[in-house]
Amino acid sequence: MIKIALPKGRLGDRAYSIFKKAGWYCSEMEEENRKLIFTNAEQDIQFFWSKPGDVGTYVERGAADIGVVGKDILQEDDTDVYELLDLGIGKCYMAVASMKGKDLDEPEILRVATKYPETAKRFFQSKGRDIDIIKLNGSIEIAPVIDLSDCIVDIVETGTTLRENDLEVREKVFDISARLIANRISYRFQYQRIQDILEGIRRVVDTDDKDN
Ligand code: PRP
Repeated sequence: MIKIALPKGRLGDRAYSIFKKAGWYCSEMEEENRKLIFTNAEQDIQFFWSKPGDVGTYVERGAADIGVVGKDILQEDDTDVYELLDLGIGKCYMAVASMKGKDLDEPEILRVATKYPETAKRFFQSKGRDIDIIKLNGSIEIAPVIDLSDCIVDIVETGTTLRENDLEVREKVFDISARLIANRISYRFQYQRIQDILEGIRRVVDTDDKDN
């Protein structure tokens, strides 16, 4: 059986519809219910909804053979999996942002608020900049406004949250989108089945790209 971890929420719903278009599905997943695990015995596959931040862990440890996860989480956790395909959904980017016009060169040690401490550390280390990481769990944009931090490292999608809080992007760190990932051992031992799924999904993603 191929086990597939999908992130609960809007991104997971979009990922599931790609799987469905490619021919892999489980009708029960489309009903209103609180179930988390779904099996299609005929297709010998199982889907489960996990917390978005946990998909990489399931796949890395082989509890799932494949999964869908944002590049932001893969980078942050340095997950040891194969990245099979960019699904072209959940597009956004990681950025450094601050209050408009804030002088970021001035502080000797830059205070950085973020949900992504490893990503922020790597980015500023590569620039030789000393930083003090302030780990927050959400609503990061508040931090510079109330002077908890000099800047933030966070995801920007439409830019609305920044704009409405008088913040601006200072530097783009990397582009983000959802990736199809595979457990390294599963990929070797279930190669043909994973390859079939991958090819089906690739066809859907390529067609959707052309339609957009
Ligand atoms: C994310 C991100 C930004 C916002 C960006 O937050 O952390 O706050 O979306 O989107 P925008 O550029 O379209 O405004 P999310 O909604 O996931 O909530 P969080 O603050 O709890 O992380």
